[in-house]
Amino acid sequence: MSKNRVSRRQFLSYTLTGVGGFMAAGMLMPMVRFAIDPVLQAKAAGDFIPTKQKVAEITNVPTRVDYTFEQQDAWYTSDVTGTAWVYKDEQGEIVALSPVCKHLGCVVDWNTDKTHPEHFYCPCHGGLYTKDGTNVPGTPPIASLDVFPYIEKDGFLYLGKAEPRKGA
Ligand code: FES
Repeated sequence: MSKNRVSRRQFLSYTLTGVGGFMAAGMLMPMVRFAIDPVLQAKAAGDFIPTKQKVAEITNVPTRVDYTFEQQDAWYTSDVTGTAWVYKDEQGEIVALSPVCKHLGCVVDWNTDKTHPEHFYCPCHGGLYTKDGTNVPGTPPIASLDVFPYIEKDGFLYLGKAEPRKGA
């Protein structure tokens, strides 16, 4: 009889350990994968969201441009709709402003306050902004409207994430 012979007890111990480990791995791997799945997802190609607004059709009058993008919140994906006020300034540069009032976050509208034409107006507390998004002193907002970075692609306007205006 060989000295290296595996006893029945050892054989059962090794076999049960191997099978148990294999089964545990089979149960744990899907859980681990589920937990870290959002990290493994490929990120979107760019940070700019397409709109249906043709750049050539943008005028010097602020126009509401709606856009939709897919938002990933952990494992939940939803369609989110956003809005920008877009126009071309005197130099022909596109200006894309966030509609979110810098006072308490209501939505501003263009040219709806009869006493202050050609202004962005917030109906919640009478906030006013000039056409370039600058807050009018003496009204509740204490900062300018955020500005969207943008790119033009295939003739259409793409918007980035709105950010506070530089120098404001
Ligand atoms: S939220 Fe716009 S003025 Fe208050």
